[in-house]
Amino acid sequence: MNDQSSRADVQTTLPLKIVIVGHVDHGKSTLIGRLFHDTGSLPDGKLEAIQAMSERRGMPFEWAFLMDALQAERDQGITIDVSHIHFRTNAREYVLIDAPGHREFVKNMITGAAQADAAVLVVDAREGMQEQTRRHAYLLHLLGIRQVVVAINKMDLVDYNEARFQQVSAEVRDYLAGLGIDLRHTLLIPVSARDGDNIVSLGKTMPWYDGETLAQSLDGLQPPVPSLDLPLRLPVQDVYKFDDRRIIAGRIESGHLRQGDILLFSPSNKRARIQSIEAWPTRGQVLACRAGQSIGVTLDEQIFVERGEIASLDTNPPMLTNVFRGRIFWLGHQPLMAGRRYKMKLCTAQYPVDVEKIEKVIDVNDLGTVAADRVERNAIAEVIFRTRAQIPLDPFDHNGITGRFVIVDEFDIVGGGLINMDGYADQRLSQRIKSTNIFRVEHRVPIEERWQQNGHRGGVLWMTGLSGSGKSTLAFSLEQYLFRKGYQVYVLDGDNVRHGLCSDLGFSPEDRVENIRRVGHAAILFARAGFLCITAFISPYRADRERVRALAPELFHEVFIDADLKTCEERDPKGLYAKARRGEIDDFTGISAPYEAPVNAEVRLDTSHQTVEASLAELSDYVMRQFAITAH
Ligand code: ADX
Repeated sequence: MNDQSSRADVQTTLPLKIVIVGHVDHGKSTLIGRLFHDTGSLPDGKLEAIQAMSERRGMPFEWAFLMDALQAERDQGITIDVSHIHFRTNAREYVLIDAPGHREFVKNMITGAAQADAAVLVVDAREGMQEQTRRHAYLLHLLGIRQVVVAINKMDLVDYNEARFQQVSAEVRDYLAGLGIDLRHTLLIPVSARDGDNIVSLGKTMPWYDGETLAQSLDGLQPPVPSLDLPLRLPVQDVYKFDDRRIIAGRIESGHLRQGDILLFSPSNKRARIQSIEAWPTRGQVLACRAGQSIGVTLDEQIFVERGEIASLDTNPPMLTNVFRGRIFWLGHQPLMAGRRYKMKLCTAQYPVDVEKIEKVIDVNDLGTVAADRVERNAIAEVIFRTRAQIPLDPFDHNGITGRFVIVDEFDIVGGGLINMDGYADQRLSQRIKSTNIFRVEHRVPIEERWQQNGHRGGVLWMTGLSGSGKSTLAFSLEQYLFRKGYQVYVLDGDNVRHGLCSDLGFSPEDRVENIRRVGHAAILFARAGFLCITAFISPYRADRERVRALAPELFHEVFIDADLKTCEERDPKGLYAKARRGEIDDFTGISAPYEAPVNAEVRLDTSHQTVEASLAELSDYVMRQFAITAH
């Protein structure tokens, strides 16, 4: 079988995974019972058995009983597939990935144990949207489910009234549009699940409706992008040693690989060529493998890799970062707290993570956001997490598996979320090494001699802070003051170097990283030349500043020019905040791009509250002390 035919095969036979959600009592179970029955998906005799049972108990038959029966069987493991219930239309097969009201529903969705391709949102025509309708709709959005069919149910109870249908439809549309859901693909269908109207066939009760039935609209949904077509991601599950061979085992989560491919392991950044592939359960060597298969590979070099690393191809690796934003759903009884450390799992890896910041907690009712220092149970929030080391991950929009994580406490999952890297850079870029066979040449002038000649030590005074915080003002004043005192001093300023050394760079996360990388090296060169180099760059990412520090820790002094956003925005010396607010700059620091304040800067100046003169005095004092030859 060649690649092409096997791919087509996968696409046509994969059932579409759907989830049916909605407010309690809006008719989910009834709708499911109907859908199963009217599509002819019920096991023979099931309906009759339940009808007979209802009769025996003297209860009127309800379609919802069917659902309960199927669910009970599932829970007892009677049906073959215990986690899924299947039904089929003429067009294709469907899997109901979870039963509504099931206790584990949200948890399964958030953890990826059950990822739906599409959803049916059931809304009662009498009641319209309710709290849970909104919560579920938001969750669908949060979980990255972009295809939603809305069943406006119980039309029989509003006399099949078209105006009422339009009214509820408008309400649902407004809410979904507010979530940013593309409504062109969202169908709204008036149904009566109890009577089966517009479920599989158009009933006679709503002649004004000539759209699709629920089943037809499901058949029109797009199949998921096969994970086969995404870049290779092979999280390492285990490394087995046999004799002198190491077998690296794991499940291919996306993409494919073949013998001879060079694997890049992240975060260790080690590379080696695949020598052989062992596939399970076929138990034998194969030449190629793809998403969904559990495999073991041997490599042509004995590199040391561990469980948790992600193997990819060289050409399209995951991002590496020590900071990321999670859109999370919190399940824990204890609230998630800013500043606390948690244990996070991403694929086969586990990392300690600190909650750096709760950006916002989202009110699902009005989609408003509030600032908070905690996230309560069942709440949705956007949270910035920080890890100590760099970890490999993907934005959820790029990969639904390596773009998702859960937070665990002991053995319980207390939260989970999707990764959104907007505003954050791939830090792998800053580690690029192209040239090899380069050696260092020693200077013949020792640094101490330079210091003696200059009368002071060299070093870098690295100013970081928001635009308008006063970095440039302070830098140039300090330069002038120190120069007049005889210092060898020079300022590297953001606006200036962006005209030259960095004129090819803009303000994307990657460009900012590169900007600081270059300037960092330039500043350290000045310092090694004996100069006191003052830099004035926003330098919004903590990791970038730390990398400059690491080049020469003994020479680096971080100065946090700490003016709050409000003050900077009021000052707005270049009118850039106003532009950013008008949406004319979409990556402006503090407004639409992150700023990560230092946590242990050598100097912090509160320029919202103190005068330029006072700040200058503090800085010059610091320089006199720290850059005296006798210092340290
Ligand atoms: S950094 O983020 O890469 O460190 P840098 O300090 O070099 O930024 O440049 C910041 C200066 O560029 C600001 O003082 C401002 O004058 C100007 N600027 C223009 N566009 C932006 C933007 N989108 N975000 C931040 N600063 C901007």
